[in-house]
Amino acid sequence: MNLNKLKAKITNLISNSSELDETLQAICELLKESVDYYDWVGFYFRNGDREELKLGPYAGAATEHAIIPFGKGICGQVAVSNKNFVVADVNSQDNYIACSINVKSEIVVPLFVDTKNIGQIDIDSNTIDPFTQADERFLEFVCRSVAALM
Ligand code: SME
Repeated sequence: MNLNKLKAKITNLISNSSELDETLQAICELLKESVDYYDWVGFYFRNGDREELKLGPYAGAATEHAIIPFGKGICGQVAVSNKNFVVADVNSQDNYIACSINVKSEIVVPLFVDTKNIGQIDIDSNTIDPFTQADERFLEFVCRSVAALM
């Protein structure tokens, strides 16, 4: 499915949302099923006032990385940098937390509420270098849409 069609589906999920985690779960499943190179899709959120991220709803293989300290891995770096992080090849990264040996690439986009970085969407791919600027713009849209519920 193309990303514009997916945007409409996201908007629909958001407008019909009654419970945040259910909606986030539905978004993760929709994205994983609709984009062939999205193999794991999840949300991480800041854990209270701790300098760490906590795993929220996700679709894909279970991960043991339910808590990630700020600064650690791709996710922890985005918690600090407030910037998108696109990793074409995870083997090129020293500060990377492996969840599965099948993962080849990753994209993490921060989620802002009132300009504050409160979490992120994280996508792993089993394909090397699949993410383009279209994915970044699309995932920024997803994060803005989710932020409207928070
Ligand atoms: N690879 C991430 C850890 C989270 S898993 O991808 C689900 C990282 O380096 O932060």
